[in-house]
Amino acid sequence: MELSKFKALNDVDSVNAYISALEAFDGIVELQELKDLARVRGGVAEGKSILDVGCGFGLETGRLANVAGAQGFVSGLDKSADFIREAQKRAEAAGQSIDYQTGDATALPYGDNSFDCVRAERILIYLSDVSAALSEMRRVLKPSGKIALIEPDFSTNTINISDRTLARRVLDHEIKTAVENSFLPGSLMVTLENLGFANIEISSRALIFPQELAASYFSSLADNALKSGKITTSENGAWQTELDDLKAHNAIFATISYFLFTADAP
Ligand SMILES: C[S@@+](CC[C@H](N)C(=O)[O-])C[C@H]1O[C@@H](n2cnc3c(N)ncnc32)[C@H](O)[C@@H]1O
Repeated sequence: MELSKFKALNDVDSVNAYISALEAFDGIVELQELKDLARVRGGVAEGKSILDVGCGFGLETGRLANVAGAQGFVSGLDKSADFIREAQKRAEAAGQSIDYQTGDATALPYGDNSFDCVRAERILIYLSDVSAALSEMRRVLKPSGKIALIEPDFSTNTINISDRTLARRVLDHEIKTAVENSFLPGSLMVTLENLGFANIEISSRALIFPQELAASYFSSLADNALKSGKITTSENGAWQTELDDLKAHNAIFATISYFLFTADAP
């Protein structure tokens, strides 16, 4: 799994692996807590107009539609046509009316002042121009509308591999290569302030990876570091052996911190 592929999923052979990974990630309790908080602080309620930017295949968008109900309006936008097709399939199967659109977060296909609430989760980390996307979100929000953003900080990734120097090198390689903005939460408050957002609130959760997901993700991190020449074949071998052993004993301890930012549009 290479997270960097989320920048251009239209170019991957099959999106199925990405769908499975996102579903497994969505099951993490601490992330669900943050999503619940995002709905509450983000003003999501019956009858509201809500936009999910970088909605993927609609895991959260469907929940938003359940809350907004028949009097509300929910739209989901994503760059991946495959994900949008899958989202539309799921909405149809669930009997939900959701407006799904393929598009780019930096050029939203909606009029000014269109939404009560705009949310985005794990998409800003992939963008080269975060301010441009946030300006677009501000543009489509009604005055005093609410924004909710959920993003990770990659410097908080932890894994209980015993060789700490090796762990640091593998995790540093991930920080440098996985996404455009590994440390995004650290600058998000100032970016929001500069765009005129007010009443900024921040919360966080350390997400604890389930064993299966931890095993596959942290295995791929060492493989990627090997491909880039950052670790040797024998270091990768030691990493994979220890990870297999930890997994066999249900003993992988792996975490990453996620941050929720909510604010009011000007
Ligand atoms: C890690 S996934 C998160 C999906 C969804 N928000 C969720 O939490 O399940 C990142 C998503 O951002 C989308 N994406 C990446 N760059 C984008 C862009 N410039 N505009 C819109 N969507 C983008 C990807 O296609 C992908 O669906």
